[in-house]
Amino acid sequence: MTGALTLPALGFGAAQLGNLYRETSDEEAAGAVAAAWDEGIRYFDTAPHYGIGLSEERLGAQLRGRPREQYLISTKVGRLLRPGPGGGDDMDNAFAVPDDRVRVWDMSEAGVRASHAESLERLGLDRVDILYLHDPEEGPTEQAFAEALPALAAMREEGLVRAVGVGSKDTEVLARAVRTGLVDLVMVSGRYTLLEQPAAAELLPACEEHGVGVVAVSVFNSGILARPEPAADAAYEYGAAPAEMLERARALARVAREHGAELPDLAMQFPLRHPAIDTVVLGMRTAAQVHQNAGRMRVPIPEEAWDAAAAI
Ligand SMILES: NC(=O)c1ccc[n+]([C@@H]2O[C@H](COP(=O)([O-])OP(=O)(O)OC[C@H]3O[C@@H](n4cnc5c(N)ncnc54)[C@H](OP(=O)(O)O)[C@@H]3O)[C@@H](O)[C@H]2O)c1
Repeated sequence: MTGALTLPALGFGAAQLGNLYRETSDEEAAGAVAAAWDEGIRYFDTAPHYGIGLSEERLGAQLRGRPREQYLISTKVGRLLRPGPGGGDDMDNAFAVPDDRVRVWDMSEAGVRASHAESLERLGLDRVDILYLHDPEEGPTEQAFAEALPALAAMREEGLVRAVGVGSKDTEVLARAVRTGLVDLVMVSGRYTLLEQPAAAELLPACEEHGVGVVAVSVFNSGILARPEPAADAAYEYGAAPAEMLERARALARVAREHGAELPDLAMQFPLRHPAIDTVVLGMRTAAQVHQNAGRMRVPIPEEAWDAAAAI
């Protein structure tokens, strides 16, 4: 339970619809969302950051015709999109899109409200269910706590959104947000995965103490856990995986195989075993990935496999 909402165990992450790392075609994007819907996935996450608006535009286009009361959607605030120079691309931020728009940090109350309104425009929807403050540690952090979080809480009280939170890979900033008492949920990126669990020390106990819901994302650690056998050039934290991480991932892959499963099955199901975590959101680019991942959530994993993985 997350504020006024109950989130499903599996959600669809739409950073890939914003051309994260490489181009996703319009057809692939449409196919991925349609497949998610067919698999019964009813929670979708996006952000202005993802493809400088492209993810919101594509996701909105695919969701607009669907019954609004049947799904939940979150987007994020903290970066406004403004006209960019054009003529180049956004690969410095890992998105394969033209730089005809740019991101501008704004964690003021006015900025948060403007960001929400502009996201609704791009999505073509009249409401989103959840608003997260996005990566406050990378932007004006003190303004985030002084202005953005109170603004989000006020917007929830005004009925503009049903729940508010913070999305980040920084467990300290997330725990600080939890302790303000203003947020309903946090989206924790890459900090509670099969590979590593730094969120277990302080963040998750703080969430339990304050009744704050947790959405775990980047549960493949941005690629290294996504395949049955991690490749030598597997991605970790949006870059090349260090040797010790690769070794650990390969040992976990062996454990999975020995128990009749595959590494990504364990990676997807692992976070949900923690009592504080309600939901895993996976980044998916194609219909094939969606169908495969929905199946991975259903693979039975014996208790001994979890014990063996914990011993690595
Ligand atoms: N600060 C924040 O709030 C924050 C941070 C990170 C993420 N998020 C949210 O969480 C979502 C997921 O995070 P993420 O993209 O970092 O990581 P992730 O879910 O750990 O990994 C996604 C990658 O896994 C690969 N993948 C997925 N299904 C696969 C399959 N069946 N077979 C092979 N590969 C597969 C895809 O690779 P390819 O790229 O090769 O297709 C995809 O790019 C994002 O879309 C976003 O919504 C939020």
